[in-house]
Amino acid sequence: MEIKKVCVLGAGLMGSGIAQVCAQAGYEVTMRDIEQRFVDGGMNSIKKNLNRDVEKGKITKDQMDAILGRIKPTLDLKEAATGADIVVEVVIEVMDVKKKVYAELEEIVPKHCLFFTNTSGLSITEMASVTKRPEKVIGTHFFNPVPVMKLLEIICCYQTSAETLETAKAWGKKIGKEVIIVKEAPAFVVNRILCVMLNEAFYVLDQGLASAEDIDKGMMLGCNHPIGPLALADLVGLDTLLRIMDDMYRELGDKYRPAPLLRKLVRAGNFGRKSGRGVYDYSKK
Ligand code: 3HC
Repeated sequence: MEIKKVCVLGAGLMGSGIAQVCAQAGYEVTMRDIEQRFVDGGMNSIKKNLNRDVEKGKITKDQMDAILGRIKPTLDLKEAATGADIVVEVVIEVMDVKKKVYAELEEIVPKHCLFFTNTSGLSITEMASVTKRPEKVIGTHFFNPVPVMKLLEIICCYQTSAETLETAKAWGKKIGKEVIIVKEAPAFVVNRILCVMLNEAFYVLDQGLASAEDIDKGMMLGCNHPIGPLALADLVGLDTLLRIMDDMYRELGDKYRPAPLLRKLVRAGNFGRKSGRGVYDYSKK
Protein backbone atom coordinates (compact mmCIF):
# COMPACT_ATOMS: atom_id res chain seq x y z
CA MET A 1 0.00 0.00 0.00
CA GLU A 2 1.33 3.44 -0.90
CA ILE A 3 1.48 5.99 1.88
CA LYS A 4 1.34 9.70 1.07
CA LYS A 5 -0.32 11.40 4.00
CA VAL A 6 0.55 10.61 7.61
CA CYS A 7 -1.59 11.97 10.44
CA VAL A 8 0.18 12.11 13.81
CA LEU A 9 -2.13 12.53 16.81
CA GLY A 10 -0.11 14.11 19.63
CA ALA A 11 2.55 16.83 19.45
CA GLY A 12 4.50 16.01 22.60
CA LEU A 13 8.04 14.68 22.73
CA MET A 14 7.21 11.46 20.89
CA GLY A 15 4.52 12.80 18.54
CA SER A 16 6.65 15.69 17.31
CA GLY A 17 9.63 13.37 16.86
CA ILE A 18 7.53 10.99 14.77
CA ALA A 19 6.13 13.90 12.71
CA GLN A 20 9.71 15.09 12.12
CA VAL A 21 11.09 11.76 10.88
CA CYS A 22 8.04 11.26 8.64
CA ALA A 23 8.44 14.72 7.08
CA GLN A 24 12.18 14.08 6.65
CA ALA A 25 11.29 10.92 4.72
CA GLY A 26 9.13 12.97 2.34
CA TYR A 27 5.63 12.29 3.67
CA GLU A 28 2.96 14.98 3.97
CA VAL A 29 2.28 15.15 7.70
CA THR A 30 -0.45 16.62 9.85
CA MET A 31 0.34 16.91 13.56
CA ARG A 32 -2.65 17.37 15.79
CA ASP A 33 -2.98 18.07 19.50
CA ILE A 34 -5.79 19.32 21.70
CA GLU A 35 -4.28 22.64 22.83
CA GLN A 36 -2.38 25.31 20.91
CA ARG A 37 0.46 25.30 23.44
CA PHE A 38 1.10 21.58 22.80
CA VAL A 39 1.09 22.07 19.02
CA ASP A 40 3.42 25.09 19.35
CA GLY A 41 5.71 23.14 21.69
CA GLY A 42 5.91 20.28 19.18
CA MET A 43 6.72 22.59 16.27
CA ASN A 44 9.36 24.41 18.34
CA SER A 45 11.02 21.14 19.24
CA ILE A 46 11.12 20.08 15.55
CA LYS A 47 12.57 23.47 14.55
CA LYS A 48 15.20 23.21 17.28
CA ASN A 49 16.25 19.73 16.12
CA LEU A 50 16.39 20.76 12.45
CA ASN A 51 18.29 23.96 13.25
CA ARG A 52 20.88 21.87 15.05
CA ASP A 53 21.19 19.67 11.96
CA VAL A 54 21.66 22.77 9.78
CA GLU A 55 24.37 24.10 12.13
CA LYS A 56 26.15 20.74 11.94
CA GLY A 57 25.94 20.79 8.14
CA LYS A 58 23.80 17.63 8.06
CA ILE A 59 21.05 19.38 6.08
CA THR A 60 20.79 22.72 4.28
CA LYS A 61 18.53 25.58 5.30
CA ASP A 62 16.43 24.90 2.15
CA GLN A 63 16.00 21.25 3.15
CA MET A 64 14.95 22.35 6.61
CA ASP A 65 12.34 24.70 5.16
CA ALA A 66 11.05 21.94 2.88
CA ILE A 67 10.74 19.51 5.82
CA LEU A 68 8.90 22.11 7.90
CA GLY A 69 6.68 22.89 4.91
CA ARG A 70 5.52 19.27 4.87
CA ILE A 71 4.24 19.43 8.47
CA LYS A 72 0.84 20.97 9.07
CA PRO A 73 0.12 21.58 12.75
CA THR A 74 -3.55 21.70 13.73
CA LEU A 75 -6.06 21.43 16.57
CA ASP A 76 -8.76 20.04 14.30
CA LEU A 77 -9.04 16.24 14.23
CA LYS A 78 -11.12 16.26 11.06
CA GLU A 79 -8.60 18.44 9.23
CA ALA A 80 -5.73 16.27 10.47
CA ALA A 81 -7.19 12.88 9.62
CA THR A 82 -9.14 13.52 6.40
CA GLY A 83 -7.46 11.67 3.55
CA ALA A 84 -4.81 10.08 5.80
CA ASP A 85 -3.25 6.82 4.64
CA ILE A 86 -2.01 6.11 8.15
CA VAL A 87 -2.77 7.60 11.53
CA VAL A 88 0.00 7.36 14.12
CA GLU A 89 -1.76 7.71 17.45
CA VAL A 90 0.39 9.12 20.24
CA VAL A 91 -2.36 10.35 22.57
CA ILE A 92 -2.28 10.10 26.36
CA GLU A 93 -1.81 6.55 27.65
CA VAL A 94 -5.36 6.09 28.95
CA MET A 95 -7.26 3.26 27.27
CA ASP A 96 -10.65 5.00 27.35
CA VAL A 97 -9.22 8.15 25.75
CA LYS A 98 -7.54 6.11 23.03
CA LYS A 99 -10.76 4.16 22.35
CA LYS A 100 -12.70 7.41 22.03
CA VAL A 101 -10.16 8.75 19.53
CA TYR A 102 -10.42 5.58 17.42
CA ALA A 103 -14.21 5.78 17.41
CA GLU A 104 -14.01 9.41 16.20
CA LEU A 105 -11.41 8.52 13.57
CA GLU A 106 -13.67 5.86 12.04
CA GLU A 107 -16.04 8.63 10.96
CA ILE A 108 -13.25 10.65 9.28
CA VAL A 109 -10.53 8.52 7.68
CA PRO A 110 -10.75 6.62 4.35
CA LYS A 111 -11.48 2.88 4.39
CA HIS A 112 -7.90 1.93 3.52
CA CYS A 113 -6.36 3.98 6.36
CA LEU A 114 -4.20 2.04 8.84
CA PHE A 115 -4.06 2.80 12.56
CA PHE A 116 -0.57 2.73 14.11
CA THR A 117 -0.40 3.20 17.87
CA ASN A 118 2.72 4.34 19.71
CA THR A 119 1.54 3.01 23.04
CA SER A 120 4.41 2.03 25.33
CA GLY A 121 2.60 -1.01 26.66
CA LEU A 122 -1.23 -0.90 26.56
CA SER A 123 -3.15 -3.68 24.82
CA ILE A 124 -3.36 -3.00 21.09
CA THR A 125 -5.84 -5.87 20.75
CA GLU A 126 -8.21 -3.97 23.04
CA MET A 127 -7.83 -0.77 20.99
CA ALA A 128 -8.34 -2.66 17.72
CA SER A 129 -11.54 -4.21 19.05
CA VAL A 130 -13.35 -0.84 19.13
CA THR A 131 -12.54 -0.07 15.48
CA LYS A 132 -14.28 -1.34 12.37
CA ARG A 133 -10.88 -2.29 10.92
CA PRO A 134 -9.12 -4.38 13.60
CA GLU A 135 -6.93 -6.08 10.98
CA LYS A 136 -5.56 -2.63 10.06
CA VAL A 137 -4.36 -1.84 13.60
CA ILE A 138 -0.74 -2.37 14.69
CA GLY A 139 1.68 -1.11 17.34
CA THR A 140 4.60 1.09 16.25
CA HIS A 141 6.62 1.80 19.37
CA PHE A 142 9.28 4.50 19.05
CA PHE A 143 12.10 5.39 21.44
CA ASN A 144 13.04 8.75 22.88
CA PRO A 145 14.57 10.86 21.35
CA VAL A 146 12.80 9.68 18.20
CA PRO A 147 15.11 11.36 15.63
CA VAL A 148 18.15 9.73 17.28
CA MET A 149 17.05 6.24 18.32
CA LYS A 150 17.31 3.68 15.52
CA LEU A 151 14.71 1.20 16.72
CA LEU A 152 11.07 0.82 15.80
CA GLU A 153 9.37 -1.99 17.71
CA ILE A 154 6.43 -3.26 15.68
CA ILE A 155 3.79 -5.09 17.66
CA CYS A 156 1.21 -7.32 16.03
CA CYS A 157 -2.01 -7.52 17.97
CA TYR A 158 -4.38 -10.48 17.83
CA GLN A 159 -6.18 -9.11 14.77
CA THR A 160 -3.31 -7.51 12.76
CA SER A 161 -3.19 -8.74 9.15
CA ALA A 162 -0.01 -9.77 7.30
CA GLU A 163 -0.61 -6.89 4.85
CA THR A 164 -0.72 -4.30 7.64
CA LEU A 165 2.51 -5.72 9.07
CA GLU A 166 4.25 -5.50 5.68
CA THR A 167 3.14 -1.87 5.23
CA ALA A 168 4.31 -0.94 8.72
CA LYS A 169 7.69 -2.59 8.11
CA ALA A 170 8.19 -0.75 4.81
CA TRP A 171 7.18 2.56 6.42
CA GLY A 172 9.59 1.98 9.33
CA LYS A 173 12.42 1.39 6.86
CA LYS A 174 11.52 4.50 4.86
CA ILE A 175 11.66 6.71 7.95
CA GLY A 176 15.13 5.38 8.69
CA LYS A 177 14.42 2.89 11.47
CA GLU A 178 15.53 -0.67 12.10
CA VAL A 179 12.51 -2.77 13.00
CA ILE A 180 11.91 -5.71 15.29
CA ILE A 181 8.64 -7.62 15.15
CA VAL A 182 7.10 -8.74 18.42
CA LYS A 183 3.87 -10.30 19.61
CA GLU A 184 1.60 -8.36 21.91
CA ALA A 185 2.21 -8.78 25.64
CA PRO A 186 2.30 -6.22 28.47
CA ALA A 187 5.08 -3.67 27.71
CA PHE A 188 6.07 -5.73 24.64
CA VAL A 189 9.81 -6.61 24.54
CA VAL A 190 12.06 -3.59 25.04
CA ASN A 191 10.10 -1.87 27.82
CA ARG A 192 9.50 -5.23 29.53
CA ILE A 193 13.25 -5.57 30.01
CA LEU A 194 14.31 -1.92 30.23
CA CYS A 195 11.71 -0.71 32.72
CA VAL A 196 12.49 -3.51 35.17
CA MET A 197 16.12 -2.32 35.20
CA LEU A 198 15.12 1.31 35.69
CA ASN A 199 12.70 0.33 38.46
CA GLU A 200 15.45 -1.70 40.16
CA ALA A 201 17.69 1.37 40.19
CA PHE A 202 15.06 3.12 42.36
CA TYR A 203 15.09 0.20 44.83
CA VAL A 204 18.88 0.40 44.96
CA LEU A 205 18.78 4.16 45.50
CA ASP A 206 16.09 3.85 48.19
CA GLN A 207 18.15 1.23 50.05
CA GLY A 208 21.04 3.70 50.16
CA LEU A 209 23.45 1.33 48.45
CA ALA A 210 25.01 4.19 46.47
CA SER A 211 24.32 7.76 45.41
CA ALA A 212 22.24 8.43 42.28
CA GLU A 213 25.39 9.64 40.52
CA ASP A 214 27.31 6.49 41.40
CA ILE A 215 24.47 4.17 40.39
CA ASP A 216 24.40 5.86 36.99
CA LYS A 217 28.17 5.95 36.71
CA GLY A 218 28.30 2.24 37.56
CA MET A 219 25.92 1.26 34.77
CA MET A 220 27.53 3.61 32.25
CA LEU A 221 31.11 2.57 32.86
CA GLY A 222 30.46 -1.01 33.91
CA CYS A 223 27.97 -1.91 31.19
CA ASN A 224 28.69 0.67 28.49
CA HIS A 225 25.20 2.19 28.68
CA PRO A 226 25.12 5.67 27.10
CA ILE A 227 23.22 7.05 30.09
CA GLY A 228 22.62 5.73 33.62
CA PRO A 229 19.25 4.19 34.60
CA LEU A 230 18.18 7.05 36.87
CA ALA A 231 19.06 9.70 34.28
CA LEU A 232 17.25 7.61 31.67
CA ALA A 233 14.19 7.41 33.93
CA ASP A 234 14.27 11.23 34.06
CA LEU A 235 14.44 11.31 30.25
CA VAL A 236 11.59 8.83 29.79
CA GLY A 237 9.48 10.52 32.50
CA LEU A 238 9.00 9.07 35.98
CA ASP A 239 5.22 9.17 35.53
CA THR A 240 5.54 7.17 32.29
CA LEU A 241 7.85 4.64 33.93
CA LEU A 242 5.48 4.25 36.90
CA ARG A 243 2.51 3.72 34.60
CA ILE A 244 4.33 1.02 32.63
CA MET A 245 5.41 -0.71 35.88
CA ASP A 246 1.86 -0.48 37.29
CA ASP A 247 0.47 -2.06 34.12
CA MET A 248 3.05 -4.87 34.19
CA TYR A 249 2.49 -5.44 37.91
CA ARG A 250 -1.27 -5.71 37.33
CA GLU A 251 -0.94 -8.07 34.37
CA LEU A 252 2.18 -10.09 35.17
CA GLY A 253 2.45 -10.12 38.95
CA ASP A 254 4.72 -9.37 41.84
CA LYS A 255 8.05 -9.47 40.03
CA TYR A 256 7.10 -6.15 38.43
CA ARG A 257 6.10 -4.23 41.59
CA PRO A 258 6.93 -0.51 41.17
CA ALA A 259 9.59 0.79 43.57
CA PRO A 260 8.03 2.85 46.40
CA LEU A 261 10.56 5.65 45.81
CA LEU A 262 9.51 5.91 42.17
CA ARG A 263 5.87 6.30 43.24
CA LYS A 264 6.83 8.83 45.91
CA LEU A 265 8.75 11.01 43.43
CA VAL A 266 5.82 10.96 41.00
CA ARG A 267 3.45 11.93 43.82
CA ALA A 268 5.81 14.83 44.60
CA GLY A 269 5.48 16.03 41.00
CA ASN A 270 9.06 15.01 40.09
CA PHE A 271 8.27 13.73 36.60
CA GLY A 272 11.83 14.06 35.30
CA ARG A 273 13.34 16.42 32.76
CA LYS A 274 9.96 17.62 31.50
CA SER A 275 8.97 18.99 34.95
CA GLY A 276 12.45 20.35 35.71
CA ARG A 277 13.04 17.80 38.45
CA GLY A 278 13.11 14.01 38.69
CA VAL A 279 15.87 12.11 40.42
CA TYR A 280 18.07 15.02 39.34
CA ASP A 281 17.42 18.76 39.27
CA TYR A 282 17.20 20.32 35.78
CA SER A 283 15.77 23.67 36.84
CA LYS A 284 19.05 25.55 36.47
CA LYS A 285 20.10 23.97 33.14
N1 3HC B 1 16.27 15.28 19.85
C1 3HC B 1 16.99 15.16 18.73
N2 3HC B 1 18.33 14.90 18.73
C2 3HC B 1 18.94 14.78 19.92
C3 3HC B 1 18.22 14.90 21.13
C4 3HC B 1 16.82 15.18 21.07
N3 3HC B 1 16.08 15.30 22.15
N4 3HC B 1 19.09 14.73 22.16
C5 3HC B 1 20.31 14.52 21.60
N5 3HC B 1 20.20 14.53 20.26
C6 3HC B 1 21.28 14.30 19.30
C7 3HC B 1 22.36 15.33 19.38
O1 3HC B 1 22.11 16.42 18.53
C8 3HC B 1 23.59 14.55 18.94
O2 3HC B 1 23.59 14.47 17.54
P1 3HC B 1 24.97 14.28 16.68
O3 3HC B 1 25.45 12.89 16.95
O4 3HC B 1 24.55 14.49 15.27
O5 3HC B 1 25.92 15.33 17.18
C9 3HC B 1 23.35 13.16 19.47
O6 3HC B 1 21.91 13.06 19.67
C10 3HC B 1 24.07 12.91 20.79
O7 3HC B 1 23.64 13.92 21.68
P2 3HC B 1 24.57 14.64 22.76
O8 3HC B 1 25.99 14.57 22.29
O9 3HC B 1 23.99 15.96 23.09
O10 3HC B 1 24.36 13.80 24.09
P3 3HC B 1 24.64 12.29 24.37
O11 3HC B 1 25.80 11.77 23.62
O12 3HC B 1 24.62 12.20 25.83
O13 3HC B 1 23.35 11.56 23.78
C11 3HC B 1 21.24 10.57 24.05
C12 3HC B 1 22.07 11.82 24.25
C13 3HC B 1 21.14 10.25 22.55
C14 3HC B 1 19.84 10.85 24.58
C15 3HC B 1 21.95 9.39 24.81
O14 3HC B 1 22.10 9.74 26.14
C16 3HC B 1 21.18 8.11 24.73
O15 3HC B 1 21.23 7.39 23.75
N6 3HC B 1 20.47 7.78 25.82
C17 3HC B 1 19.64 6.59 25.89
C18 3HC B 1 18.31 6.89 25.32
C19 3HC B 1 17.36 5.72 25.47
O16 3HC B 1 17.66 4.68 26.02
N7 3HC B 1 16.12 5.92 24.97
C20 3HC B 1 15.08 4.94 25.09
C21 3HC B 1 14.17 5.31 26.23
S1 3HC B 1 12.86 4.15 26.43
C22 3HC B 1 11.64 4.73 25.44
O17 3HC B 1 11.72 5.79 24.84
C23 3HC B 1 10.41 3.89 25.34
C24 3HC B 1 9.24 4.49 26.03
O18 3HC B 1 8.10 3.74 25.76
C25 3HC B 1 9.41 4.57 27.54
